[in-house]
Amino acid sequence: MRLQIAAANWKMNATLEEAKSLLSKLAEFDSSTLPNHHKVIVSVPFPYLMLAKEYLGKKHGFMVAAQNCYNQPKGAFTGEVSALMLSSINVDAVLIGHSERREYFSESNEMLAQKVNIALENELTPVFCCGEPLSIREANTQNEYVAKQLKESLYHLSPEQLMQVVIAYEPIWAIGTGRTASDEQAQEMHAFIRAELAKQYGQELANEISILYGGSVKGSNSIGLFSQPDVDGGLVGGASLNADEFIQIIQSLS
Ligand code: 13P
Repeated sequence: MRLQIAAANWKMNATLEEAKSLLSKLAEFDSSTLPNHHKVIVSVPFPYLMLAKEYLGKKHGFMVAAQNCYNQPKGAFTGEVSALMLSSINVDAVLIGHSERREYFSESNEMLAQKVNIALENELTPVFCCGEPLSIREANTQNEYVAKQLKESLYHLSPEQLMQVVIAYEPIWAIGTGRTASDEQAQEMHAFIRAELAKQYGQELANEISILYGGSVKGSNSIGLFSQPDVDGGLVGGASLNADEFIQIIQSLS
C-alpha cells in the first residue's frame, strides 16, 4: 500500500519563537494511532532543522525535511547547503524543485535532476515538485508541461531509485492564491502523472509512488482532495503554519 503523506512547507516563515511554538504543538499531537501508511513531513527553514529533529525526530510517523539543497557535494559555494550536511544532522527528506525555486532562483530541470541524485546518494527522500503556471493551464497544455518536468528530472533514475522519490504536483496558479484545483482537476493530473510513470517504469512501480497535491490545501478541502484515488496526500504551505489546521489536514489522510 503506497504511503499517504501530509507534508508541511513553512517556506520562509517563522521566527525562532514561532517555530518553537509550532513544533511544540505538533509534538503534542498524539500520532501513535497513525496507521503505518500515513506519514507526516515537516519542511522547515534551515536554521530550525535541528530543532525540528529535537521536537519531532522520535515521533511516530513524522519526518523532518529541508526545503532545498545544492546540486554539488561540497566546496566553495558560499551560502549553499549540501545534501551531506542535511543527512549528517539526520534530516529525512528534502523538497526539490519547488516552483518558487524554479521561478526565483532559475532552477532548471537539469539542475533538479542533479539535486535528486545528490539527495538520493545521501539517503534523503526527495519530494520532487512539479506543476504548471496559469498560462499553460489556460492553453490546456499542462499534461505536456508536467510530462517534460518528470522526464528531464526523474527518468534517468533506476526503478529502485525512483521508488525512493515522492512527487508533489503543485499547479502554480493554486499556490498561495486560495484558488485550489478542484478535486477532479487534481485527480485528473495525478492519474496522468501515474500513467506517465507507468509508461516509463511499469504499472506496478507507478502504483507504489506517492503523488501529493499542493496549492491552497486547507482543513476545509483536504478530505475531498485526499479521497481522490490518485491523490496520496498534500504539500501544504500557508495552512501548515497553523498547528491545529495542519493536524486537521493530517487527520484527513485516507
Ligand atoms: P499554499 O498551501 O500556501 O498554497 O502553498 C502551497 C505550496 O507551495 C506548498 O509547497
